[in-house]
Amino acid sequence: MRLKSFRPERIITMLVDGKNYQSIWLDKIDRGKVMVIDQKRLPFFFEIKELCSVEDIYSAIKDMTLRGAPLIGAAGAYGIYLATLEMNSLTNIPDHLANASRYITSCRPTAVNLSWAVKYVMDKLKGNFASPSLSEIALDAANEVCETEKENCRRIGNYGINLIEDISKDKKGEPVNILTHCNAGWLACIDYGTALSPVYFAHDKGIPVHVWIDETRPLNQGARLTTWELGNHGVPYTLITDNTGGFLMQKGKVDIVLVGSDRTTRKGDSANKIGTYLKALAALDNKIPFYVALPSTSIDFSLSDGIREIPVEERAPDEVTSVNGLVNGEIGAVRICPEGADAANWGFDITPARLITGLITEKGICRAEEKDIRNMFSNKFK
Ligand code: MRU
Repeated sequence: MRLKSFRPERIITMLVDGKNYQSIWLDKIDRGKVMVIDQKRLPFFFEIKELCSVEDIYSAIKDMTLRGAPLIGAAGAYGIYLATLEMNSLTNIPDHLANASRYITSCRPTAVNLSWAVKYVMDKLKGNFASPSLSEIALDAANEVCETEKENCRRIGNYGINLIEDISKDKKGEPVNILTHCNAGWLACIDYGTALSPVYFAHDKGIPVHVWIDETRPLNQGARLTTWELGNHGVPYTLITDNTGGFLMQKGKVDIVLVGSDRTTRKGDSANKIGTYLKALAALDNKIPFYVALPSTSIDFSLSDGIREIPVEERAPDEVTSVNGLVNGEIGAVRICPEGADAANWGFDITPARLITGLITEKGICRAEEKDIRNMFSNKFK
């Protein structure tokens, strides 16, 4: 598949009310505080939350104060750093860190970035348990995780813009209609985003784009977060219900589908927010390109058959039986079915590689096939 040349650095700033933000950072004054944008409060309230312990990190990932594969990984990495601050002279350091690492990794099972990032920090600590600089080593490693994910996402944008630009040329400058599912933007990825990174790059280059945003039940990451992100950046969008995409495709109103991934196997099967698979089926039926944008930290090179092997998170049924929204000026839940209704809540589904037109990675665009993935990431194959 096409691999266009890498473009020189372009600066994209993620602005909230004119101020540049990332979705996670370390407090500049108190280095025991990891700061995150509270995504449960968006889009109604923009609030920053302080995470000061392993327990705080665990809870924030679990209850989705922060979410999105690369961001979960970054938070997990900072969690190990915080674990190094929660020690005293009696602490059995290897046991303490191994427990913290197991605990944090158990928060959410699907996004492989979490275990990747925790392992990355733990690997840097091995052999340094007696070092007085243990916390500094952990912090450096966690910062490296963040920088790696940011740079990966920037590169995804730099490659992915080519797909949008080509469509724009074919459409003679008419807006390119992009359909996306969930939130795979900078909120989910520290900066830039995965699926949304090419959109930001295109928009900032003056290529007319318009994004169809799936609301993404049950937690409405599309309705709450993607609208907020794109709106802040001035990218035109229209919010649609989860079931609308196929109809729009039949009507010729979708030029390309761009989604993220929580875990992609070495053969290209990709887990993403529940409902992604149905969009891929509709895209194939309508001959619309369907791309998965992901950093290699979301590829699980040890897995091949996504449907059988990728662990899919099951969440609480009350996320299905009720909807959160603004009620009398505060965020509240509204029940939408009979009391006591049975409900099930799988968080992700798996899109088989055969339905995916290509993967947009930090190294370029490739087919969702083991051969191409192996060519691109030969060093990651054992
Ligand atoms: O349950 P979430 O909100 O963490 O799910 C997030 C997604 O499905 C994203 O699309 C995914 O993490 C990939 S891109 C950041």
